[in-house]
Amino acid sequence: MVDQIEDKVSKAHFWDQKYRSGETSWDLNGPTPAISNWIDQFTSEKKICLLGAGNGYDAVEISKHGHQVYAVDFSEIAISNMKNYARIHKRSVHPILSDLFDLPEEYNECFDIVIEYTCFCAINPGRRKEYRDVVCRILKPGGILMALFFPINKPLSDDGTPFGVDLAQTISLFEEKFLLKSKQYSPLTIQPRVGNEVLTELQKV
Ligand SMILES: C[S@@+](CC[C@H](N)C(=O)[O-])C[C@H]1O[C@@H](n2cnc3c(N)ncnc32)[C@H](O)[C@@H]1O
Repeated sequence: MVDQIEDKVSKAHFWDQKYRSGETSWDLNGPTPAISNWIDQFTSEKKICLLGAGNGYDAVEISKHGHQVYAVDFSEIAISNMKNYARIHKRSVHPILSDLFDLPEEYNECFDIVIEYTCFCAINPGRRKEYRDVVCRILKPGGILMALFFPINKPLSDDGTPFGVDLAQTISLFEEKFLLKSKQYSPLTIQPRVGNEVLTELQKV
């Protein structure tokens, strides 16, 4: 039987192939302005995890703000690119080569902040509750999930990736375990994504 796209995206091989062939239309080739700006508010050192961190531009940028940064991806190519990017920028990040759904227990209640950008829309939509539970598991009590949810205008019935994200439905899903602190369109969203992503802050309760 031929694998459905929902099954394919759950395998690292699918993403390695994308990186290998350069089919990386999501890739900004640099840090995400809305994320860098959001991080600016924290003056003391935080332990931060990025899920599905890709080539690591945001991870490296956040490390420049003086935080301890852990970046999870199950694509060996993404992790290798991330290490190179960090080396070029003379920064230290902790790359974690792992399926986010299988993160070891040593990361339980480990992080002050988890950052989500274009990973939630990349996983099998049938696993979104599991994703929420992973974020909850790895955050310290009172920890913050900063999620730039994208693409909020794409119909859920359309094929991924990215898979569409219904904002109201997604916030309801997280509100079972998190308190919504804020949601806003960021003025720093990149032009092609204006109106199609929302920056949300959710606190683990
Ligand atoms: C659309 S890309 C986004 C990468 C990065 N966030 C960015 O904005 O450039 C999705 C990334 O999530 C990773 N990914 C998807 N499912 C994953 C999983 N279950 N565990 C770990 N990484 C995953 C892929 O390998 C890929 O690097």
